[in-house]
Amino acid sequence: MKIKPEIPNNALPPLPPNREIVESKSVLRQESKAAVALAELKGIANTLPNQSILINAIVLKEAKASSEIENIITTHDSLYQALIAKSFKPDSATREVLRYREALFEGFNFIHKKGFLSTNGIIKIQNILEENTAGLRKLPGTVLKNGATGKVVYTPPDDKNVISRLMSNLEKFLNEDDTDDISPLIKLAVQHYQFESIHPFYDGNGRTGRIVNVLYLMLKGLLDIPILYLSGFIINNKGEYYRLLREVTFSNKWEPWIIYMLQGIEQTAKDTIGQVNDINKLMNNTINIVKEKSPRIYSKDFIEVLFEQPYCKIDFLVERMKIERKAASRYLQNMEEIGILKAKKIGRENIYINTKLFDLFKK
Ligand SMILES: Nc1ncnc2c1ncn2[C@@H]1O[C@H](COP(=O)(O)OP(=O)(O)OP(=O)(O)O)[C@@H](O)[C@H]1O
Ligand SMILES: [Mg+2]
Repeated sequence: MKIKPEIPNNALPPLPPNREIVESKSVLRQESKAAVALAELKGIANTLPNQSILINAIVLKEAKASSEIENIITTHDSLYQALIAKSFKPDSATREVLRYREALFEGFNFIHKKGFLSTNGIIKIQNILEENTAGLRKLPGTVLKNGATGKVVYTPPDDKNVISRLMSNLEKFLNEDDTDDISPLIKLAVQHYQFESIHPFYDGNGRTGRIVNVLYLMLKGLLDIPILYLSGFIINNKGEYYRLLREVTFSNKWEPWIIYMLQGIEQTAKDTIGQVNDINKLMNNTINIVKEKSPRIYSKDFIEVLFEQPYCKIDFLVERMKIERKAASRYLQNMEEIGILKAKKIGRENIYINTKLFDLFKK
């Protein structure tokens, strides 16, 4: 039966698709490039002395990028201010991006604790993201429209039994061992298509699906820490993203969709390796400067705080280094004098910004 954009797609086939269709020669070629880049990223991330530095920075960047696909726009500066300054009143976009960040962390904790990703886990992620408890769609009426023309481009299943059945099928596909031998990176592309096509929620399906992507990489042991995100790639190739999703649905063309996702993984892994190297270099530079100009203040812990918290304040040092407020304040002022930090007043609080690091994150 022919699928029509305006008719709910209750006949969406369960996974897996036919192996011959998803595993063409060109898919396999691109898959090995993506796998190599990803393995290199995994190795390099393990060389970092302090992994929360990288996780903090990259998660926030992802929260911003993924939300931007939905036209929720804020700045890095607002995000950091909202995270640390008590008097700062974030606007609604900033609050929404911070909820995305929270939802991501919820997902990592879920995977860590349970070792699998269930439909309930996914519902919890969406619930934090959207701040509502509606859960899976029960009522019809959800359609996907072209943002510019308003034309309906796809109507997901509207039968709640179909949605719940397809979600159980997806859950199995996500968690089962790879006995069928399809590479996990190819499966990543397949599950993302499926999740978006089921479109299980009233809203937040794109963002929730992009969170599921990174959780899947962790689930399959392809990454130890959550640092590979495709949102930047998707923003830069958004038209393709939407078009290729439709090609799977309406023409059963899996190949270009899977290659697109694999290229995204390869490119993003390479970019992220560059970022890890940049952060490492800057950290070593900073260590050298502080050792030379302020040898009495230098400690490994101190430098690490300045990199974990690109917007730093006295409280962070007091807590982390177990020092007095007065000493903490002196340390931070000294860092401003030698050009490592820049002070900024937010309300009554003094905030110290690691500007070089902050500029790296914005890139
Ligand atoms: N033709 C399509 N078939 C299946 N899924 C699609 C199609 N076009 C877009 N999508 C998915 O639907 C998402 C949008 O759905 P929804 O508005 O529920 O999510 P969101 O997180 O609020 O928005 P966004 O993804 O724009 O950030 C897109 O990001 C994409 O992943
Ligand atoms: Mg939306």
